[in-house]
Amino acid sequence: EAPHGLTPALRCCPSPRKPRRRLQALLMAGNDVPPRRGKVLTVDTMNANVKKVEYAVRGPIVQRAVQIEKELKEGVKKPFNEVIKANIGDAHAMGQQPITFFRQVLALCSYPELLDDNKFPEDAKNRARRILKACGGSSIGAYSASQGIDCVRQDVSRYIEHRDGGIACDPDNIYLTTGASDGIVTILKLLTTGEGRTRTGVMISIPQYPLYSAALAELGAVQINYYLNEEKCWSLDIDELQRSLEAAREHCRPRVLCIINPGNPTGCAFHSFKKVLFEMGPKFSSTVELASFHSTSKCYMGECGFRGGYMEVINMDPEVKAQLTKLVSVRLCPPVPGQALMALVTNPPQPGEPSYAQFIAEKTATLNNLAQKAKMTEEILNTVPGIRCNPVQGAMYSFPRITLPERAIKDAKAKGQVPDMFYCMKLLEETGICLVPGSGFGQKEGTFHFRMTILPPTDKLQTMLRKLKEFHQQFTQQYS
Ligand SMILES: Cc1ncc(COP(=O)(O)O)c(C=O)c1O
Repeated sequence: EAPHGLTPALRCCPSPRKPRRRLQALLMAGNDVPPRRGKVLTVDTMNANVKKVEYAVRGPIVQRAVQIEKELKEGVKKPFNEVIKANIGDAHAMGQQPITFFRQVLALCSYPELLDDNKFPEDAKNRARRILKACGGSSIGAYSASQGIDCVRQDVSRYIEHRDGGIACDPDNIYLTTGASDGIVTILKLLTTGEGRTRTGVMISIPQYPLYSAALAELGAVQINYYLNEEKCWSLDIDELQRSLEAAREHCRPRVLCIINPGNPTGCAFHSFKKVLFEMGPKFSSTVELASFHSTSKCYMGECGFRGGYMEVINMDPEVKAQLTKLVSVRLCPPVPGQALMALVTNPPQPGEPSYAQFIAEKTATLNNLAQKAKMTEEILNTVPGIRCNPVQGAMYSFPRITLPERAIKDAKAKGQVPDMFYCMKLLEETGICLVPGSGFGQKEGTFHFRMTILPPTDKLQTMLRKLKEFHQQFTQQYS
């Protein structure tokens, strides 16, 4: 924090002028040529854990896609005239429309003079007034409490209670976060300890969303893979969970089971793990330490740029909870507009309120459109020999398995590329379609996949699937 625009370094000096001159004199010592110094920070001296971090969703394929877009703009001739980005779950970037009520309230919060404008419905104005009243100086430009705005945490806790059929949720257990990512990394940070065989091991599903592997690499924790069962619609297999746990005990201390639910990229139905714990009885519900996360980024909202999110922690040791509160306070607070949005997602217009009908109509239309595109993606992909796609459900991604000819695998290896990266790169160069290779999410040895979002508008998605089908057939022919 540097009030008045002064740099912290300058503020520390009682008399800024003299020390600065002395420092300059010292640096120039005797001649006008700047001294030759090696860099303090090089790839050899930087944090080694950071170098281990990989994040395929914005990896080499996406970097090449950005380059190709530039080339197209410069007039370079390609067999296509646009890049279709189906690599990232960014709904609005692909044309999904925001919910009017959410944006009305956010507009009112950002520019309160609009509260006098009769174009805005009364319920949107009431929500905005409530949020603004809870903000410092009645402005969403003010910092909030580090755990998040009280009334928003109350909305979140009521939402969770409703979701779980009445099981109590204490607002004190709610922490508002910067998207779900921030909460996930914070909790993993608390859990990471030890060295060698005592290092914290974290069990993650494979395929996984690469935030988890990236965070574990950065923190120096041990990634423990448990494989989802592709043959049974990517379901979780208890025997496989047991196998991976026992294998991990040989080289680390497994302390965390991470469940992505619904899976990314694999989908399937949502289950509230808190509710399940309560159904299992007090032996579990009053002892199992559970942290769960949600955000404004996906689903019918798709508001990932606002970075709204929350986490609920239950059965956490009070002293650890105090440490958690301290840790989040170092970063001051999550973005306040994101918090406001989280309040609206967890407390949307209710029956009888002026905005209710439009809210439901927009929400339903978006969800129906996603369901239709999910079905279409699955159906078209399954018509391609050599591509097999499980039902696309509960996620905005498909993760089909692709059969690659032996010669393609050999050629890829000769180029030092993993085979599905080779495939996706070729697809991008020849069709402009940008996908993420399955290897970025993890997959069983010897199997290959890609992840594709179902987010492009229906007509574009249809064109993309047709081009993908043609490409796969040509690729298979070329390498057979
Ligand atoms: C499983 C999973 N975890 C975390 C995130 C992070 O989302 P955000 O930080 O935008 O809430 C995502 C986003 O796609 C995800 O799929």
